[in-house]
This record gives sequence, C-alpha cells and structure tokens, in this order.
Amino acid sequence: MRVRRIGVGVIGTGFMGRCHALAFRTAPLLFPVEARVDLAMVADVNAAAAESMARQFGFAAATGDWRALVECPEVDIVAITAPNALHKEMALAAIAAGKHVYCEKPMALGAADAQAMADAAAAAGVRTLVGYNYLHQPAVAFARKLIDRGEIGSVVRFQGVNDEDYMADPAVPHSWRCRADAAGTGTLGDLGSHIVALARYLAGPIVELCAVTRTVIAERPLPGGAGATAAVENEDQADILVRFADGALGTIATSRVAWGRKNRLACEITGSRGTLIFDQERMNELRIYTADRPGEANGFRTVPMGPPHPGYAAFVPAAGHQLGFNDMKVLEVAHLLAGIVEDRPLYPDFSAALEIEKVLQAVVRSAERKAWVRVDEV
Ligand SMILES: NC(=O)c1ccc[n+]([C@@H]2O[C@H](COP(=O)([O-])OP(=O)(O)OC[C@H]3O[C@@H](n4cnc5c(N)ncnc54)[C@H](O)[C@@H]3O)[C@@H](O)[C@H]2O)c1
Repeated sequence: MRVRRIGVGVIGTGFMGRCHALAFRTAPLLFPVEARVDLAMVADVNAAAAESMARQFGFAAATGDWRALVECPEVDIVAITAPNALHKEMALAAIAAGKHVYCEKPMALGAADAQAMADAAAAAGVRTLVGYNYLHQPAVAFARKLIDRGEIGSVVRFQGVNDEDYMADPAVPHSWRCRADAAGTGTLGDLGSHIVALARYLAGPIVELCAVTRTVIAERPLPGGAGATAAVENEDQADILVRFADGALGTIATSRVAWGRKNRLACEITGSRGTLIFDQERMNELRIYTADRPGEANGFRTVPMGPPHPGYAAFVPAAGHQLGFNDMKVLEVAHLLAGIVEDRPLYPDFSAALEIEKVLQAVVRSAERKAWVRVDEV
C-alpha cells in the first residue's frame, strides 16, 4: 500500500513556530494518521534562525523567504506563526498556491481581513484551521460534552477571563505586540481572542456586547534604545458585558498586565441545573456541580483528567498524570491532520474564526462609542 505523504511548511521560528514543529513531529507518533508527515521546510525572516530550526527539528529545507515556502511543491500545509499583521498576506498566498493553511490566532488584524481570508479559502476548497488550541484540550472538550449532554441544563451565564502578566512590568520593552500595524489590538487579539473562542465553543455565538478598554502602560522602552521609549498603540486590558444568541448573559475580561496571572484562561459556565469551572492554570481538572445530588452531600467536585476524557489517553494511560501546553498543540495538529486526510471539516476553520474576529472588532467599536454594539453590525 502506498501511504499518502503530507508535507509541512512552518513559517516562523519563535514561540509558536517551535511549538508547531514539535506538534507536527509528535502528533503522528501518538495518533493514527493515515499519512506520512514530512517536515518539508521552515521559513523565517531571519534565515539563520530558520536553518538552525531545520537542523534541530529535522526539516528538509530552510529559507529566509516565506514565499519560497508557500510555492515549494513539497509543502501541502502552510503553518503561519509570524506576527499577526502577516497572517492575511501569507494565508492568501498559500491559498492561491492551493495549500491547506494552519494559521495562528488572532486570524487577522480585523474582521474585513478575516472575511477576505475565509472567502478565499472557501473558493479554493482548501482546509483551514486557526490556532485556538485550548478548544482541543481534554478538560474543555469534556466540558463541551457535558453541556451537549444537558448535564448542567441550558447555559444561562458565562464568566470568562484570560489574564497574564507578561507585560505588567513597565520595563518590558516595546515590541511588535504594542504596534497597531503589526498586532492590531493588544490583549484583545492576543489573549481575549482565546476566551472569546472558548465562550463561543461552550455557550454559543455572542450577539451583543458593551466594552471598556484601557492602555495601562502608555510608553515602553525601545529595545537597546538607551533610554528612548515608544508609545503603546493598543489596549492592555478590556472588560466586556456580553449577550449570547440563546439569551445567556456573561462577562469577558482580559489583561496582559495582570500581575501574578501566568495563563489564567478561566471560565465558569452556569446552567439551569449545574455549573462547570475550568482554569487553564490547572488545565488537568474540571470542576463540576450538578443540582441533582442530595443537598447535604453536594458541592463542586474536582474531576482529574484521565483516559476517559477526549484526547488524554493518547499521551498517558493513567488519570491524573497531567498533560501540558505543548500536548494541546499536538491535539490540535492531530485534528488538523485527520481533517485533511479524511477530508472533513476542521474547527475552528477560517469561517468560524471570522466570527471571533467580529466579536473583537465589536469590542473595539463599543469601547470607542461607549455603547452596546451588535456583533453583526461590524
Ligand atoms: N495559540 C497560542 O496559544 C499562541 C501563543 C503565542 C503566540 N500565538 C500567536 O502566534 C503568532 C506568533 O507569536 P510568537 O509568540 O510565536 O511570536 P515570536 O515573536 O516568538 O515569533 C514570531 C516569528 O515570526 C518571524 N517572522 C517575523 N516576520 C517574518 C517574515 N516576514 N517572514 C517569516 N518569518 C517572520 C520572527 O522572526 C519570529 O521567528 C502570533 O500571531 C501570536 O498571536 C499563539
């Protein structure tokens, strides 16, 4: 039997580039993928970094020109891990070359760009996936299963937060993340997009919202700038009231200057008959309360993730042994490879991630107008 070959091209050698490369190496070892996955090429604007990563991870080739990767006949999937502003141009070029696209979040700098990407992918018939990795982790997938099974009744409230402190220190230098032309929004696109993705996955589409945003640290030192500073052009924090399509209400908050928070992607979903609590800082647990137990013995129970939960058993055969961040990316890549090999839809693809971009844009508009904004208006 001739095994199908899938060639992978990764653009970017930073945090996510390395995480993608590791996941493409690992996923076929842990999941039954009916294809041979080849690390075909890695690209970075820093050609030496691309070469070094090619050697380390075993890519067949390296380049300093991402367009060469997109055009390379050995590449079937283009994984985009460059800064946000480059996602649209790279994705459109990859789609035009007939490649499947695996793009990091946020998908684009705004809803119009995301729409153009979703339209192009639909017209070309290629598969797409956006890197909302938390949707693939066992506790979140299990929460979705419980909600779908009606274990907490109908969702009436979603309280979500995604806080980190990676920019809480005013001495953290200015970077592409602080520039509107490179990153678009600040914490909204970087962290807020993940909790909006989670809200949509667990409680359905957001139809209306009212938001406030703030840039807490207005200036940051330029790297190697001998005391020179530059203005931070996007928000450090955002607080949002939301209304979901089926009537549920909620709050979503995000900050990149929340001292002490390292990856507090957390949510509490209250239903008509129970509540679920998830916190990525304790990613191997789900807390569950259901109203159907005797009152005197009832309370939240903490369920450790284990083989019965979606995706866990591929890594460890015993409960409570803990998965980590990179394992989530492996689960995401396994989903991507299965979707491509079996030709079935991926989630969230460009059309689903476009809806997340619309919510983020509605947040910006609401904060500017100091008013409620309907998501379908943007
Ligand atoms: N899914 C997640 O949990 C998660 C986590 C972190 C970052 N991200 C997303 O991943 C993307 C990258 O973030 P990061 O933290 O890896 O950033 P990073 O700064 O660590 O890496 C970015 C890489 O892109 C390269 N690059 C820049 N311009 C390029 C060009 N023109 N051609 C080729 N390469 C180019 C840089 O040299 C660098 O290697 C962002 O969109 C970010 O939002 C997602």
